Amino acid sequence: MMVEKKQMLYEGKAKRVYQTDNPDYYWVEYKDDATAFDGKKKGTIKEKGYYNNQISAIMFDFLKDKGIDSHYIELKGDREMLVKALEIIPVEVIARNIAAGSLAKRLGMEEGTELSKPVLEFCYKSDELGDPMINDYHIDALGLATVEQMKEIKKQAWEINKLMVDHFKDLGIILVDFKLEFGLHHDKVLLGDEISPDTCRFWDAETKEKLDKDRFRRDLGKVEDAYQEILNRLKGDVS
Ligand code: TMP
Ligand code: ASP
Repeated sequence: MMVEKKQMLYEGKAKRVYQTDNPDYYWVEYKDDATAFDGKKKGTIKEKGYYNNQISAIMFDFLKDKGIDSHYIELKGDREMLVKALEIIPVEVIARNIAAGSLAKRLGMEEGTELSKPVLEFCYKSDELGDPMINDYHIDALGLATVEQMKEIKKQAWEINKLMVDHFKDLGIILVDFKLEFGLHHDKVLLGDEISPDTCRFWDAETKEKLDKDRFRRDLGKVEDAYQEILNRLKGDVS
């Protein structure tokens, strides 16, 4: 699609969003910057921008193929993609299949314990507040999304979880948990943001090795290798 990149609209912790000459489209640039724990830990992960852009593009294409549309339109080079302009709904949607991270801590569960049923959580996207967990009543009371929009978000999140768990299983990867963001495009609820090792927990099915941002969060080393491994497996290049 012939679209021109214009001025920067917003710079986040991992991405920059630009306007284009068409108000319906944004241009997203993925950065190598990495943060954790609400920005308290900062660093860079070499080539992360490249890996997350490519991995997200593959995931959005995969979901589209299975009937779940997203903001993604097309790649614009190694680290950039063209997307539909979304008005982001400030709710992070977290799907969990296995206890890890904040859930393991909050509920006193051992990391790696399989949940008897998958769980959905919602967090209010606010850096100042540290993304507090909220429920449907808070979302309604704060006017973050309508009840109808939340119904649609949950429907899509459950479907995405099912599709992604199965797909990664075929690639020898356990999808432990992940975070999604949704937005409105001409009043339609659409999946946005990214799907990458920054926003998912991936464990190798055999070795249980972590192949995601926990390697950065927990100083486990071989961070770049993990991102590359996820991209390779998605592309079918088994190493
Ligand atoms: P958590 O266990 O730290 O709550 O993280 C759950 C999942 O959500 C994990 O796959 C990482 C992802 N996540 C984000 O993408 N952004 C965030 O700000 C947080 C806290 C988690
Ligand atoms: N807490 C987020 C994470 O660990 C990143 C951040 O908020 O800086 O993924």
